[in-house]
Amino acid sequence: METWFTLWKTSIHAWLSAALMPVLIVTLGAVVWRWSLRVLAARGADENSFWKKLLEAIALPGYLVIGATAIKVGFEMAAPGSIPQKWLVGSNLLVIFALVLLLGEALFTLAIDFYLRQRHATEVPSIFQQLSKVSVYGLFALSFLSTTLKVDITPLLTTSAVVTMVVGFALQDVLGNLFSGISVHISPPFRIGDWIKVGDFFGRVVESNWRATTLRSADRDTFILPNNDIAKKDIVNMSQRPGFLYNDFSIGLSYEASPDQVRRSLLGACGQVREICRSPAPRVYMEGFQDFSITYRIRYWFKDGHSPLAVRDQLTSRIWYRLKRDGITIPFPIREVNIHPEKDQKAEMIDRRLALLSEVDFLRELERPHRVFLATRLKEYWYEAGETIVQKGSTGTDFFLIDRGRVSVFLDDEAASPVAELASGQFFGEMSLLTGEPRTATVRAEAETLLVVLSQEVMSTLLREKPDLANLLSSVLADRNAKNRAAQDRPPAAEADRPARSGGGVDDEQASSLLLDRIRRFFRLS
Ligand code: CMP
Repeated sequence: METWFTLWKTSIHAWLSAALMPVLIVTLGAVVWRWSLRVLAARGADENSFWKKLLEAIALPGYLVIGATAIKVGFEMAAPGSIPQKWLVGSNLLVIFALVLLLGEALFTLAIDFYLRQRHATEVPSIFQQLSKVSVYGLFALSFLSTTLKVDITPLLTTSAVVTMVVGFALQDVLGNLFSGISVHISPPFRIGDWIKVGDFFGRVVESNWRATTLRSADRDTFILPNNDIAKKDIVNMSQRPGFLYNDFSIGLSYEASPDQVRRSLLGACGQVREICRSPAPRVYMEGFQDFSITYRIRYWFKDGHSPLAVRDQLTSRIWYRLKRDGITIPFPIREVNIHPEKDQKAEMIDRRLALLSEVDFLRELERPHRVFLATRLKEYWYEAGETIVQKGSTGTDFFLIDRGRVSVFLDDEAASPVAELASGQFFGEMSLLTGEPRTATVRAEAETLLVVLSQEVMSTLLREKPDLANLLSSVLADRNAKNRAAQDRPPAAEADRPARSGGGVDDEQASSLLLDRIRRFFRLS
């Protein structure tokens, strides 16, 4: 009994206290650490707050200090002589090592995150942070070895040339990355957070350290590029203006379309993408003549924060619709074999359009020759959901029939609710066509929409052939005007000086007949 107790006292007790104490203290440390993080989060501390960084930096050394002290206390609680001397010395060294690390990390965070970043707004690249830490800790370790432990460090410093060569060869890549990293950071071509293109990789720089630079792509893929590779490749930094980034989009288009026409179409498509900045404005460059197409490059800017992929996706889509509407083709090196005679295709198209015209209320009554006349002169335009078809205040005289899809009509802000929603078989654009005034509303496609467009010239021929149409159009116009006035809650007096447009201040019938007069004069109808 005596022997067992002595053994417990001298050995097991020592080891248990040496092992259990750290576990207890480390658990306690973890609880305190998590609690501090929660307190910081509750106080609104963000990722870059100094206190958060400090807490993160000292967490590991803190655990080490606590653990090492616990072991040391455990050893000292044991009966004298039960723990070998070298373990006691080891535990002392561990405590010193942990304390130095704790102090070092706290000082580094103070210098880098508080003094340089917060006070002087200077960002220290992580490669330099790591290098300075390694050098300071290395120097400290060497001086500790030589002065306190009286270890002769001369052989360490003067390793033989052969060893240096072998190590040099073995670490060729590592050292290459290190030195490339240093050169990249001395004159940095990018900052953390910038969007860059390196070879085939495009992404936001999330980290750059002594070995590699990490990019996160728009669809959240992570690329880790060794500094050696980065130093050899061309880097394109897309974040030249703070808060904005640009992108290029190249497209080969038909020789048939003039550069001026292409520029208008491509810039028009950019204008349909809300995320693309108006200033700096998008630009179109002609890049060269290829075998079967002319290459154009669009440079567009958008706010950092929008996904480059999403903006590009929208732009590509808008370009497709716009080019289709403008009759500009994207040629491919393929041979087209037309099996159907062109005549059949045309007849088929006219039949389809005739069917459409018979769906539209106010055209249904037209005699067949008039409908055929219209069918041969229509233009068809496709719009994507979200595209603006007509902008309030712009000039234009096209008249639109909705073949397929849906549109909304907005009097002021597109964010507000629409004054009307129009669908297949309905029409819009009659106001500017009939009065010659700017567009009264903005019309936006709500789904993929096919519009059939009648030019002013065609409409004027049609109205001359069929003057009754003017009655119908003017009464629709007067109705819509009345509805708009009610929606905007405008006093009728404001419209009184524009009787021709709205018939303001008079009843709907009178407004309609005033409009009719004006339309008759405008189109020189008898
Ligand atoms: P216009 O002014 O040429 O261009 C915008 C078009 O929106 C307008 O012609 C009308 O066709 C249409 N519009 C305006 N107000 C209304 C409304 N209240 N209901 C339906 N369509 C409207």
